[in-house]
Amino acid sequence: MKRPIISPSVLDADFLHFENEVQKIKDAGLEWIHFDVMDGTFVNNISFGNLFLKSVCPKIDLFKDVHVMIANPLEMVEKFKEAGADCLTFHYEACQNDQEIFDVIDKIHDFNMKAGIAIRPSVSIEEIYPFLSKVDLVLVMSVEPGYGGQHFVESSLDRIAKVKNEIVSNGYNVLVSVDGGINDTIAPKCLNNGADVLVVGQYLFNHSDFKDRVERLLK
Ligand code: DX5
Ligand code: ZN
Repeated sequence: MKRPIISPSVLDADFLHFENEVQKIKDAGLEWIHFDVMDGTFVNNISFGNLFLKSVCPKIDLFKDVHVMIANPLEMVEKFKEAGADCLTFHYEACQNDQEIFDVIDKIHDFNMKAGIAIRPSVSIEEIYPFLSKVDLVLVMSVEPGYGGQHFVESSLDRIAKVKNEIVSNGYNVLVSVDGGINDTIAPKCLNNGADVLVVGQYLFNHSDFKDRVERLLK
């Protein structure tokens, strides 16, 4: 069985000592880092943007898993390429129609990034099925986007299993990523339902035992 990917969300990391936070990720043997970009419009919170990523990404030799919770993904694709994103995941709900979704996916690929589509818990998982043949990753949000440290929405487990089944039965090559409220109890449930990537924020950061926590997620 493939080793699950842990993608630490730095939303609640210690930004005064960001280099140390990145080192913790590397010392734990992880290869991904998750950046939650929030614009204050698509979600009622503002985190950091493409200019912050542009300042740090070139110095981080990890896979830059960028999750944009922004209202205008199509207009920002090039800016996140310039910022150093390796995978750019936008929200289904941020687009006006299917054509715009296909346009965003194509533009992300045109800029040689992996394309991810995210869907919030309140939206039927079947809504993203038409795009599975085009994307590289599906981000099943297990909390409403906008904040770290929320409780995992239990119905997400069924959504993970459903979208994984749709991917496998059609032979698509798409990673299933889960994002929000994940800890050592919930992680195995997500993996058993088909998750390939676990985005984990507050369970990992602001504790003294980062590496031990990573091992507990993967036990
Ligand atoms: C929420 C973000 C998540 C969140 C994960 O909008 O997409 O990445 O920060 O953090 P935890 O694990 O703290 O829920
Ligand atoms: Zn995220």
